[in-house]
Amino acid sequence: MKFYEEAFRECGDIFATRIPGLGDWVYICSPDLVKAMLEAPEDVVAGGDVGMGNLSHVLGEGSSTYLNGPDLKERRDVTSPYLAMQGSLRLVDFVRELALQSVAEWPLGQPFPLVKPLQKIALGALVKMIFDHAGPEKVRQLADIYENFSFRGLRSPTVSHPTLQIDVGPWSPWARVKKKQRAVFETFSREIELRLAALDKPEEDDLVLGMGRAKLRDGGTIPPQVMLAEILEMLVQGHELTGNSVTWTLGELFTHPEVLERLRQELDSVVGDGDVESSHLARLEYLEAVVNEGLRLRPSTPFTIVRLVRQPFSIGGYDLPPGTMIALCYPALARREDIFKNPQSFDPDNFYGKKLGPYDWHPFGGGSHRCPGRGLAEVVMKVAVATIARKVELKLAQDEVRPVRSAYFYEPNRGLLVTLEKRL
Ligand code: HEM
Repeated sequence: MKFYEEAFRECGDIFATRIPGLGDWVYICSPDLVKAMLEAPEDVVAGGDVGMGNLSHVLGEGSSTYLNGPDLKERRDVTSPYLAMQGSLRLVDFVRELALQSVAEWPLGQPFPLVKPLQKIALGALVKMIFDHAGPEKVRQLADIYENFSFRGLRSPTVSHPTLQIDVGPWSPWARVKKKQRAVFETFSREIELRLAALDKPEEDDLVLGMGRAKLRDGGTIPPQVMLAEILEMLVQGHELTGNSVTWTLGELFTHPEVLERLRQELDSVVGDGDVESSHLARLEYLEAVVNEGLRLRPSTPFTIVRLVRQPFSIGGYDLPPGTMIALCYPALARREDIFKNPQSFDPDNFYGKKLGPYDWHPFGGGSHRCPGRGLAEVVMKVAVATIARKVELKLAQDEVRPVRSAYFYEPNRGLLVTLEKRL
């Protein structure tokens, strides 16, 4: 993260790296250049399957991440009602209860890594969005099986190195990844099949039923194995990013008492003594600014848009040949002094009462491959932050806080050790 921010200070809005084995990468750091990249036709600058981070060999084929054009639009039309802000509001009570339950389990007076329980809250919300009929026990069971695959399977170096994908007995690394993958595939496939039995009950609805009911333009339907790939892709993309973002934001909140106090005052005046409910969210403007500020200052991924040049493309005065990767350098764009008043500090006034330009800030990417889970992530982050901020006093229990890479995303080093000082 630091390297990219420093490269921006040294080189300006556009710079490049040429690293053997990784190819040529061009990084852009200004709203104008982001606009130029996003407005380029898909056959010139492509998203989707751009040859990096492709996990379809372990998550299954056919998810929207690898689609483009009308196929992508068609799939997004099916999934968006469940992921957009409006559809996600029905998860508010569930997320709040998960947060309250989690807080009740935190040890008093002993340092613990905050990131794990917060990732669990995010994962629980995702599972509930996918299988609405699942009660807390079933959600926990599905989440545990996925977590085992995610933390002990997907993180194996064998996943991203085809030469290591050799099965030489049950204890070999690749065989262990495949075993965990089988467990996830079998459990989630069975759950999808059970859920599809409710297809003709219009009073029931969730992502699986939405996909099961979709009539495609070729007259077909989405096959269950594609539903499974779509679901697993969402879990991979949504679980850690959302949990890590809540962790970063809470870490900043509890080290900025004046911000915490202002947030609590807003919550008291809008929510009163009761619980945060879906009807409150639109009126919690400072909460929104706090969550946005956490995403701005503490990204969980350094590039929020990565695209591949497929045909010669000129940008920022440079001609890029096919094969070049273009990345939006988020740590640079998100700390621009001409966009944010106080870019180096955690200051929700960078957002509160402000209107940003359409290309000024991209924590969720942009264009046709923008993050489909934005609405859901925002609901989970707001409800978790608001609930936890009102229920506990936390104290940071480590001296240095910095982002470290944990497989595919960045999280705070040591998982952000905090001490629960008291419950409120
Ligand atoms: C704070 C939480 C999150 C952040 C910061 C985040 C950020 C991002 C970013 C930067 C991208 C790349 C977009 C682009 O290339 O233009 C992305 C893609 C994606 N995200 Fe999220 N995301 C979050 C939560 C979620 C959630 C909750 C879901 C669950 C549905 C999700 C599902 C996806 C998927 C499936 C993609 C791939 C989209 C595609 O390639 O077509 N994300 N996300």
